[in-house]
Amino acid sequence: MKTTVSLVLALLAVAGARAEVVVRPEPIQPIEAAKPADPRKVELGKKLFFETRLSKSGFLSCNSCHNLSAGGTDNLPSSIGHKWNLGPINAPTVLNARFNLAQFWDGRAKDLTDQAGGPIANPGEMGSNHELAVEVLTTIPQYVTWFEEIYGKNPVSIEQVKDSIAAFEETLVTPDSRFDRWLKGDDAAITEAERKGYQVFKETGCIACHNGPAVGGNSFQKFGLVKAYEKDTTTVGRMGVTKNEADRFVFKVPTLRNIELTYPYFHDGSVWTLEEAVTVMSVHQFGKPIKPEDTALIVAFLKTLTGKQPDFPIPTLPPSTATTPRPSAL
Ligand code: HEC
Ligand code: HEC
Repeated sequence: MKTTVSLVLALLAVAGARAEVVVRPEPIQPIEAAKPADPRKVELGKKLFFETRLSKSGFLSCNSCHNLSAGGTDNLPSSIGHKWNLGPINAPTVLNARFNLAQFWDGRAKDLTDQAGGPIANPGEMGSNHELAVEVLTTIPQYVTWFEEIYGKNPVSIEQVKDSIAAFEETLVTPDSRFDRWLKGDDAAITEAERKGYQVFKETGCIACHNGPAVGGNSFQKFGLVKAYEKDTTTVGRMGVTKNEADRFVFKVPTLRNIELTYPYFHDGSVWTLEEAVTVMSVHQFGKPIKPEDTALIVAFLKTLTGKQPDFPIPTLPPSTATTPRPSAL
């Protein structure tokens, strides 16, 4: 009996030791799986993320430009919005956007909730307005019930729409990349070349701006720090928000998580391959191209940052009713 007890205790101790993961002390931290506080709110936000009736044409949803089957982007240099409008800037991924210090390339929205109302009423994006979007939802009884379950017996409001979409976006994280498994101690999770690529990424100084759990998203930095970027001279970047000349061409550093999926690159979507993107960075941020073999190693490392993509059944949306405003392509 005594031996059985000590055997059980010994086994428990082993199990305990296994469960405790020691994360390597690196400037990049692993992404943890989402633990939603309110699953019903997330579920409603998910439906709204796919809800094309939030657009005037009834054709565009958040997912049109932030396609969750394609790394949370549209893989276009700039997005196509209402009336086939070609947007001014590349659509960043919504994956891991919760780690951003602010939203948009210039950080003009302070968080995901603040951001979520923007595209609905942007004439070049979803082309609707907040009153119309709320009217559409209010004429669909199933939506009214869902909103009431979460927000109580108040009329549906744009604040509730933003709040639930943001709650869904909070769950759009991509844990368990090979690099994260390596960070958590699994030496075999990445190859020798990929590990060397990470070493070069740190030694050449990429890590100064691309760090933290999202490998970016946590600071504003100048694009063209050492050598001016000549392809785009009209976008002002952060200066549009601060009105400070020193912030001209300063952008939120993009996340490099899932970067293999989110081409084309940069705010102007001008670069289609990671090799070229890494070269552009070294030329404009450091003033000189790095050796081609080092570029190849960095690219190999970057591809280990692709994590587990959102995976859920496609949400079913409730049907319109006789009083639902009809879509208009105009
Ligand atoms: C027509 C295409 C289009 C649609 C539709 C659209 N977006 Fe975007 N989204 C963009 C573009 C382009 C940007 C970048 C704009 C900028 O930075 O000035 C962006 C930026 C964002 C960002 C900021 C990400 C970051 O890293 O800064 C989030 C979050 C986001 N969108 C969520 C949404 C949500 C939620 C919806 C639906 C309510 C939506 N988008 C609908 C094109 C679109
Ligand atoms: C001084 C800060 C800084 C340094 C150093 C830096 N970056 Fe960047 N990186 C940025 C900024 C800012 C952007 C966004 C530029 C833009 O599109 O306006 C960016 C964009 C990128 C992109 C494109 C991301 C996307 O989604 O479009 C890649 C890839 C990238 N960097 C990789 C690297 C690599 C590799 C290095 C090292 C060789 C590096 N960066 C060094 C600040 C930096």
